[in-house]
Amino acid sequence: MLSEFKYVEFFVSNAKQASHYYRSVFGFKGYAYSGPETGNEEFVSYVLKQNKIFFVLTTALSDEHPISKWVKKHGDGVSEIAFSSNAPNEDYNYAIENGAQSFYDYKEFKDLNGVYKTAAVKTYGEVIHSFIDSSQYSGIWKPGFIEYNPDPVPSNEVDLLLVDHIVGNVEDNKMDEWVDFYEKSFNFKPFIEFTEDDIATKYSALRSKVMKSDNNKIKLPINEPAKGLKKSQIQEYIDYNNGAGVQHIALLTSDIISTIAGLRANGAEFLDVPDTYYDELKNRVGVIDEDIQKLRELKILVDRDSDGYLLQLFTKPIQDRPTLFIEIIQRKGCQGFGKGNFMALFESIEREQKKRGNL
Ligand code: FE2
Repeated sequence: MLSEFKYVEFFVSNAKQASHYYRSVFGFKGYAYSGPETGNEEFVSYVLKQNKIFFVLTTALSDEHPISKWVKKHGDGVSEIAFSSNAPNEDYNYAIENGAQSFYDYKEFKDLNGVYKTAAVKTYGEVIHSFIDSSQYSGIWKPGFIEYNPDPVPSNEVDLLLVDHIVGNVEDNKMDEWVDFYEKSFNFKPFIEFTEDDIATKYSALRSKVMKSDNNKIKLPINEPAKGLKKSQIQEYIDYNNGAGVQHIALLTSDIISTIAGLRANGAEFLDVPDTYYDELKNRVGVIDEDIQKLRELKILVDRDSDGYLLQLFTKPIQDRPTLFIEIIQRKGCQGFGKGNFMALFESIEREQKKRGNL
C-alpha cells in the first residue's frame, strides 16, 4: 500500500549549484550524498531535507549518461516521484498487472545498515514513480549514500512541512488516459475535476482532474491544455519540456505569512498578484484569521470552500525554461486546490507568458 510522498528527485544540469539554491532560498538542509567519493562514478546526488520533505538533486558525470540525455531534452525538472510503501513488490506487481509499464523490477539494495526495497513504473512524459520500503534500512538514506553536511548558508527562516500535491501537465486529450492509469494501476480515486469553464481566461484554458490515495496523503492533479483564443499555458509547458512532465510541487506550511516573508527575503520570485485582488477578497472569502493588509503586502492568495479556506502562492518557474514551479500552501480546513484563485492566477501567468512572446 502506498502511504505518502517519500521524495522528489530532480535531474538537473548542475546539482551542486541547485543544492545551494534550495538551501539558501527554500530553507532545505543537507542530508545525504552519493558521488565519486562514495564509489559512484556515474552521477552525483544531493539529498536535501526539510521536515518531511526530501528533494534529491542529481547530475550525471558523462554526456552519454541517460540522465544527461534527459536533461538535454527536458531541462532541469522532476524525474521521479517516490512513494513510501509497506510492500513495494506487491504494489509494483499490482501496477504492472493493471497496465503500468515497468521502469525497473523489484530489487533490494543491501549493506551493513540493512535492506532498502524498491521498484519503479513509468508515468507521463519521462517521469517515474518508485515504491520504497526503507523501514529495514538504518543508514542515512540508501546504500551508496553518506551524510551530507555542507556549511550552512545564510537563509531567512521558512517552515515547509511536507509535499501536499504534485501536478502533472499532459498533452491535449491525454488527461483521461492518465486518470485511468492512476485509477487502475494505483487504485487511486478521482477527487476533484475542473473544466475550462472553471479555468479559462480570455486567452488560455485548461482542464484538470485530481487523483488521490485512499488515505488522502497523495494527491496528483493532472492538467491538459484546452482550446482558448491563444496558446494555453499548459501547451507552453509541453512545448518547452518536450512533452508531459511535472508542472508544480505544492509544499505545505503551517504559517504562510512568515514563510512567504522568509522566501521573499531569500530571493524567491513569485507570480505577481494584482492589487485589485485584495479589494475583492473580503467579499469573496469572508472572515479569515489573517490580516488582509499583510496578505496584500506579501501577495498571498486565499480561497474558501464549504470545509474552510486555504492560502497559497506560486513561484515563477525555477529554471530558465517556463516549466516547473513551486506552490506554497497553508490549509485551514479546505482540501481544495484554490479554484477561486485560478482566474487571478492565470491572468498573472499569462502576463509572464506574454513577456516571453508565447501568448
Ligand atoms: Fe497546486
